[in-house]
Amino acid sequence: MKDNFLWGGAIAANQAEGAYLEDGKGLSVMDMVPMSEQRVKIKQGKISYKNCKQNDYFPTHKAIDFYHSYKEDLKLLSEMGFKCFRTSIAWTRIYPTGIEEKPNESGLQYYRDLFKECKKYGMEPLVTISHFDVPMYLVEKYGSWKNREMINFYLKYAKTLFEEFNGLVKYWITFNEINVILHNSFSGAGLLFNDEESVEQVKYQAAHHELVASALATKLAHEINENNQVGCMLAAGDYYPYSCNPEDVFLAMKKNRESYFFIDIQSNGEYPSYSKGIFEEKNIKLEIKEEDLNILRDNTVDFISLSYYTSRCVSAEQNKEENEANVMRSIKNPFIKASDWGWQIDPLGLRITLNTLYDRYRKPLFIVENGLGAKDIVQKNKIINDDYRIQYLKEHIQAVKDAIKDGVDVMGYLTWGCIDLVAASTGQMSKRYGFIYVDLDDYGVGTGQRIKKKSFDWYKKVIETNGEDLCLFPNYEN
Ligand code: BG6
Repeated sequence: MKDNFLWGGAIAANQAEGAYLEDGKGLSVMDMVPMSEQRVKIKQGKISYKNCKQNDYFPTHKAIDFYHSYKEDLKLLSEMGFKCFRTSIAWTRIYPTGIEEKPNESGLQYYRDLFKECKKYGMEPLVTISHFDVPMYLVEKYGSWKNREMINFYLKYAKTLFEEFNGLVKYWITFNEINVILHNSFSGAGLLFNDEESVEQVKYQAAHHELVASALATKLAHEINENNQVGCMLAAGDYYPYSCNPEDVFLAMKKNRESYFFIDIQSNGEYPSYSKGIFEEKNIKLEIKEEDLNILRDNTVDFISLSYYTSRCVSAEQNKEENEANVMRSIKNPFIKASDWGWQIDPLGLRITLNTLYDRYRKPLFIVENGLGAKDIVQKNKIINDDYRIQYLKEHIQAVKDAIKDGVDVMGYLTWGCIDLVAASTGQMSKRYGFIYVDLDDYGVGTGQRIKKKSFDWYKKVIETNGEDLCLFPNYEN
């Protein structure tokens, strides 16, 4: 690993902060998503959030209360030697509805303090401008990203951040997992569909608006401070063909293009040639202003960030068993095991994905999410033996090292949910990713106490040795 390799961890405002209406914060999309059997459909935009039941539980409202505990939490994280800490800014803490002329000073102060606290411990903040976080007012009054007006609301917000945190924050991500708009259209981009609309048309038009907004924000960030580094962000994990049947291979190529479409535009600066085929097949006619193409061409990203949890698999044959694959549908791959939540575990897939991305874009890659969601058990004396997590991370970090040997330029590696937080897919607390346990159950009941897991000391050692030493512990193995 390079000497300045950015080791650390990541969280997102909506999954950690809680305090969902405190200090002037407005409602955002994830505040409307309950932990119920309707959750997935609401996130997808297939049914409206208005169908929630009266006694539904909304996990983001409390989350892990990071809003109040960030000082203690950052101190703990810093003990592992983090070089980088990724979080998102809640748009609705800065502009509660999205349309205000002036930002909310308490929101700005909160993040200013938080970033200063990171700096105090030598942790470089990496900030996601929008992580599943569209203000509800903009959803209701403007139709969110369906509407071109959103570009202006987003830019006003982004400009405020670049100016207010100028010099404090250098690394920015414009949209978390931008390709998720195609799958979780409501939670990802605030989209709701009415019966007269073509769902595909709406999604791709909204995506176009996001892409233009992302490019303009990149331009702005560079103008405000030439040291700013702006990245796009992909929910990554290549699709494998289920077999060498050319039909399977062709389908895998198509599925991969569905995601790479976004990064092709953000990194290469133009709509890829194959988008013509996608639009024809789905009968999509985009409204693109002439200047949009210049904006996209002239303002490409500095780095490509990605989340990686699993690879995916596709087959031309129907009736194959499916499994969860972080938002996307996938066929079960018979060669690899799965987590308790059915996400298949494939470290080599990370090496493959990194190679594919680097071959395609030749820009530095930043793994800003990777990890294992698992159930943890607190034993006597508050001991949490999360060897399964250590094993997962160890194999994935090894894959990163292998990819670097292959010639890939990787600037950093952040684990997801470095402190336990609310799961985006299920809303559960019991799907834990952290090195630090948070004593809360799926309904937010518990002391909220923080407990270091076994993986805490392990990751500390990994960082200390710049990834050289991945052994569990001297007494435990190899
Ligand atoms: C990514 C998201 O898709 O996966 C995170 O950016 C999310 O917000 C993470 O939490 C893990 O997924 P989950 O559903 O296990 O929380």
